[in-house]
Amino acid sequence: MTIDLRSDTVTKPTPDMKSAMFAAEVGDDVFGEDPTVNKLEEKCAALLGMDSAVYCPSGTMTNQIGINVLTQPYDEVICYKGAHIYKYEGGGLMGNSHVSVKLLAGDRGRISVDEISQNINNDDQHYPRTSVVALENTVVREAGSFYSLREIEKISAFARSRSLHMHLDGARLFNALIASGDKASDYGKYFDTISICLSKGLGAPVGSVLVCKKEFAKKARRMRKVYGGAWRQAGFLAAAGI
Ligand SMILES: Cc1ncc(COP(=O)(O)O)c(C=O)c1O
Repeated sequence: MTIDLRSDTVTKPTPDMKSAMFAAEVGDDVFGEDPTVNKLEEKCAALLGMDSAVYCPSGTMTNQIGINVLTQPYDEVICYKGAHIYKYEGGGLMGNSHVSVKLLAGDRGRISVDEISQNINNDDQHYPRTSVVALENTVVREAGSFYSLREIEKISAFARSRSLHMHLDGARLFNALIASGDKASDYGKYFDTISICLSKGLGAPVGSVLVCKKEFAKKARRMRKVYGGAWRQAGFLAAAGI
């Protein structure tokens, strides 16, 4: 047996996943008619205590859509300096959403209320408008350091007191939940958009889900189309995710 530790993305689907894929009922997801995709989206929204979800081909796409729906061009996003959304998505934030970033040092990637509060721009025409705080949990570039929900609660309360939206790159959120013992369904309270990957720690072959508040779901679906990610009978893949 070969043990390949390059990435959790090289895992192969289990026999159960393959059977679920073969047996999946499918339809055209662009028409909202793929029952398996709909089931996956409902399951993910309920799991994280949020209203809506949009199934997408990749975690990069769910992050890019998440930031896009929460910002206007010329806004600024606050995140850790090694955050995936900034460092490993090909400059997508700038190209797709026309936003700048304020990069924080963090403690192994975990940014604090203190750091965030010192980096919100004053409402002044010279500065980009700070509009989003983006967290990553676990933090991929910091060997999987994680936030507990208690820390997130503080950051979210502060962000909301300053009218900032909250995005989570939760590519490996389920690893953080195991490490912290926190409940998945509490997460929805603290974020506007959450990206989770099925193709990483969870072992599915393809796919990520943007879980979000209802008010952002329609635009998220529109942006998935714009980014070329509105797929057809994606239920074959969603079945493995379920
Ligand atoms: C933290 C984090 N976010 C997002 C992504 C992007 O996921 P994808 O490769 O599916 O685009 C990755 C990929 O490894 C990641 O590690």
